[in-house]
Amino acid sequence: MTARHIPIQLVPASAPSLLRPEADDLTQAVPDSLGRPMRDLRISVTDRCNFRCTYCMPKDRFGRDHAFLERSDLLSFEEITRIARLFVAEGVRKIRITGGEPLLRRQLERLIESLARLDVELTLTTNGALLAQKAHSLADAGLNRVTVSMDALDDTVFGRMNDVGFPVARVLEGIAAAEGAGLGPVKVNCVVKRGVNDCQILPLAEHFRGSPHILRFIEFMDVGNSNGWRMDTVLPSREVLARIDAAHPLQAVAPHYRGEVAERWRYRDGMGEIGVISSVTHAFCGDCTRMRLSPEGRLFTCLFAHEGHDLRAPLRTEADDDNLRRRIRAIWRARDDRYSELRGDATRPDKIEMSYIGG
Ligand code: GTP
Ligand code: 5AD
Ligand code: SF4
Ligand code: SF4
Repeated sequence: MTARHIPIQLVPASAPSLLRPEADDLTQAVPDSLGRPMRDLRISVTDRCNFRCTYCMPKDRFGRDHAFLERSDLLSFEEITRIARLFVAEGVRKIRITGGEPLLRRQLERLIESLARLDVELTLTTNGALLAQKAHSLADAGLNRVTVSMDALDDTVFGRMNDVGFPVARVLEGIAAAEGAGLGPVKVNCVVKRGVNDCQILPLAEHFRGSPHILRFIEFMDVGNSNGWRMDTVLPSREVLARIDAAHPLQAVAPHYRGEVAERWRYRDGMGEIGVISSVTHAFCGDCTRMRLSPEGRLFTCLFAHEGHDLRAPLRTEADDDNLRRRIRAIWRARDDRYSELRGDATRPDKIEMSYIGG
């Protein structure tokens, strides 16, 4: 790869403004303390998962005796929908359902159906294990798109990542089913751990080259407290791009919108697009418009937060939506998070876990 091919950063001259004031005065897009508007809500619907990815739910921390949330702790679908509606009134335009593994939540389609009535883009991130069986019902319920995590094309390497021996073929079936159900093009997320699955970068790229799907390589992040993260286990996105570019030359593509998490690249021969998510080597906090809701109704203003704001109690006692909206606005207005830019306290032991807040 040469610098001629790949500029370090590419921002379109006319990146759209982050702030777009809304009509009624309760819904002016309120900036946080660093001037960022609230645009995305990520809703985690369960902290459980049928995988034990070593970078997310290592078995020694998430074994048989792990205390997962009780069903009675979880927000009901009605409660989630009420909160989501308030967020949409506050300017949210994208909702992503996450977990743990969201397809483990019983009758998830009922929630999708309610959320699909809101004026938002509705997406879901899954490990793909149950997707072949659920893609059609999710699409029928009104889901717009899915993102599927897939860290290897080789079963042995994949097993080393998911740690439950789950076969690659079943995830590929899930991706095909999603495409068939109209949930594509599918974004495919691959978390790269140096020395564990970086041998899979080229095979994965070549598998999805020429397909409509968009493979994204994610730098292994220091989320949570249990995944053994060290800087030398991170393979920087520049290196991922260099390896692919050497075999199949790449060219940068402008972002779809300001603040897009993945940096986009296309194959120069027209065989499709890939992305890299570089929250370690090239933090994107400056444009972070995301709020995160936990399965039992705590709001987190950052993926690396230590504390959430309980919304479940006020939700259950507060009949007045305007009061809840004021509460949400106050949380957003006070927000000053930019963890990935600072990365000061990676060793602080009380961060929330990825499997609880959904990435
Ligand atoms: P699209 O906008 O549809 O591309 O979705 P997305 O990239 O936001 O969602 P996805 O769930 O696929 O996330 C991809 C990766 O980016 C995951 O590893 C996330 O944890 C990570 N990610 C998403 N948002 C943030 C963020 O605000 N901060 C950090 N540090 N990582 C994030
Ligand atoms: N670093 C980077 N990405 C991670 N994910 C889970 N844990 C980590 C981590 N430590 C990814 C999942 C999924 C997305 C929501 O987050 O693989 O694709
Ligand atoms: Fe489960 Fe996703 Fe975490 Fe893997 S990354 S353990 S699939 S929640
Ligand atoms: Fe947003 Fe926190 Fe991620 Fe920065 S580290 S991009 S503030 S979620």
